[in-house]
Amino acid sequence: MKLKGKVALVTGAGSGIGLATALLFAREGARVACADVNEGTAKQTVQQIEKAGGQALALRADVSRAADCQAMVERTVASWGRLDILFNNAGVPESPTRVEELDEATFDRIMAVNVRGVYLGCRYAVPVMKKQGGGVILNTASTAAIRPRRGLNAYCASKGAVIAWTKALAMELAPNRIRVVAIAPVATDTPMLPAFMGKRVVDDPGREAMVKTIPLGRLNTPEDIALAALFLASDDAAMVTGTCFEVDGGRCI
Ligand SMILES: NC(=O)c1ccc[n+]([C@@H]2O[C@H](COP(=O)([O-])OP(=O)(O)OC[C@H]3O[C@@H](n4cnc5c(N)ncnc54)[C@H](O)[C@@H]3O)[C@@H](O)[C@H]2O)c1
Repeated sequence: MKLKGKVALVTGAGSGIGLATALLFAREGARVACADVNEGTAKQTVQQIEKAGGQALALRADVSRAADCQAMVERTVASWGRLDILFNNAGVPESPTRVEELDEATFDRIMAVNVRGVYLGCRYAVPVMKKQGGGVILNTASTAAIRPRRGLNAYCASKGAVIAWTKALAMELAPNRIRVVAIAPVATDTPMLPAFMGKRVVDDPGREAMVKTIPLGRLNTPEDIALAALFLASDDAAMVTGTCFEVDGGRCI
């Protein structure tokens, strides 16, 4: 088991990448706090973990709100006494929109969840990690930051900020033995995917158009990202910090 004895907090744990990662971290021995703005789905993730013999905790948190982020960290530490891994994964998508049609409320919401959410998670987790002498912070970015797709301006910019934040913070926290790493998934088969296509469901033409841009010839599964997150969170990645780890089938080449 790669995470035996560790305590992890995963945001956006009710669905997609967060769900797959919470399940895998628990299978690998971690106790997992599952935070999501949708408390019902966070509870379902916890049930799945417990059914498989793992330990988990469901937390309702809107990561764009400071009080929620503080509470999710405090409740995790109150339950298990420490926090070794924070996976800032919760995010919201953008549907293709021309810049002149992108309204301020949409722009602000994307930045609030995708960027402020990462900052707030770090803000409250770092003092705990410093006190215990180390930790790992993973932030979900996107290939959209590196090879943007048309019409996703705010989303691409938000994920670019996540990568820059990751690098800056990795420098700051290296003396504290806290590693900070971004993960950049290419299009991943989750409930978020149709939004990037401006559709309600992924249809064959939409899927084919995306697959065509990925040299390895398929989309990510949520488990592809969970496996990368497991490696990066584990001691196998002890010398990895400040990097943006692309899980993209070659999309960013
Ligand atoms: N699916 C893709 O193609 C893709 C590609 C690259 C990056 N990503 C990123 O991966 C991450 C996970 O997305 P996913 O594909 O698993 O999507 P998803 O929609 O399946 O899961 C996102 C989860 O985040 C939760 N969430 C949304 N806003 C929140 C908030 N304010 N506070 C707390 N939780 C909130 C949702 O309730 C949901 O459970 C996101 O950061 C997303 O931007 C996704």
